[in-house]
Amino acid sequence: MGVEITAPVRRAAQRFIPNAKPFFSPADKAQILASMSEILDGMLTLGPLVQRLEQDFAHYVGVSHAVAVHSCTSALEIALRFFEVEGRDVLVPAQTFVATANAVITAGGRPVIIDVDRATQCLTAELVETAIGPKTAGVIVVNMHGLIPPDFEAIRAVCRRRSLFLIEDAAHSPGAIYRGVKSGALADAACFSLYATKVLTAGEGGVLTTGDPCLAAFARSVRDHGMEETRTQCVRVGSNMRCDEFRAAVALNQLGNLEVFVARRNTIARLYEEQLADEALIRLPARYTHIRHAYWKFPVSLADGLDPGCIARELLQSHGIQVSQPYAPPVHLQPYYRQRYGYAPGALPNVEWILSHYVCLPMHVGLTDDEVAHVVESLLSVLRKAT
Ligand SMILES: Cc1ncc(COP(=O)(O)O)c(C=O)c1O
Repeated sequence: MGVEITAPVRRAAQRFIPNAKPFFSPADKAQILASMSEILDGMLTLGPLVQRLEQDFAHYVGVSHAVAVHSCTSALEIALRFFEVEGRDVLVPAQTFVATANAVITAGGRPVIIDVDRATQCLTAELVETAIGPKTAGVIVVNMHGLIPPDFEAIRAVCRRRSLFLIEDAAHSPGAIYRGVKSGALADAACFSLYATKVLTAGEGGVLTTGDPCLAAFARSVRDHGMEETRTQCVRVGSNMRCDEFRAAVALNQLGNLEVFVARRNTIARLYEEQLADEALIRLPARYTHIRHAYWKFPVSLADGLDPGCIARELLQSHGIQVSQPYAPPVHLQPYYRQRYGYAPGALPNVEWILSHYVCLPMHVGLTDDEVAHVVESLLSVLRKAT
């Protein structure tokens, strides 16, 4: 998801470079179509492919349990219910898709929206520690744009010291690695999205990963109306959050390619870095030697005075290049959050600064080296014209 900047008019013959695009090779398509045909003769939901997806996902991430559900939002809600957030506060970064905070509310808790670091757009241990209050139950860290917060260990240490749960919102970060540990294995639970634009997609879908067998059993029950294992007794309130075999087939295919996808995304990031190095009008994202970035997006910050919205419109209209912006408005300035919790502009200055400075350049596996060069050349020409 995220804010996609679109404009109704583009020149007819202009090539169009979208900011995100799924990637399926002809061989992948053939494999998926063959799976679809087999599914039609057997179990259509929660069948053998869902089971295989859960096994392979857990194995890939390096945890003992993965539970496939129908969205990342469901995975978040399940984890938050397991950690009993009802009537308690959960710290949520302001720079995220609103689903992260909404899940806290639907699980019965109160999201406390906190500011993020300007350079990484992620939480830091310091920001977390200062926001902890008497009712804080836990923290959701968002691996924004595919970057695990560089001081993740310190955030985890704060949570352990203060007896708070820690959830990774890993919607952007399949394949990211922090000091040798994959995203999904870093916290008490992690929630992945298989939404249409994501690094690993099945159109829709989600996966919850955890090392805790009780959370995994709870998730299997809640996703299926609160039934116990034999599916005859309802033992808690649940809902239909099941994963069907069709999306499991697509997700399995994507998972098999994930290492190649993340490697290509990193190569594209290196191309952008090389070609945009030393450009005074742009600040590139920092690189961290202890982290492998998943590069769901490639965010760059523009020099003061340049308006990201205008730059985005000009890139689309004159060059056929679609860039996206970080989530705008940020969670605390969404109308519902302003009205219900009283947030006002100026409350969280870093996230507001981020919105007025960042654009995210096209990033997807099928983007060619030539297209990257075209994006860079177009961006520089638009920026120079604007100054
Ligand atoms: C950071 C983040 N969290 C949660 C979600 C929700 O994911 P889903 O659409 O799979 O429920 C998204 C989706 O865009 C997201 O970007």
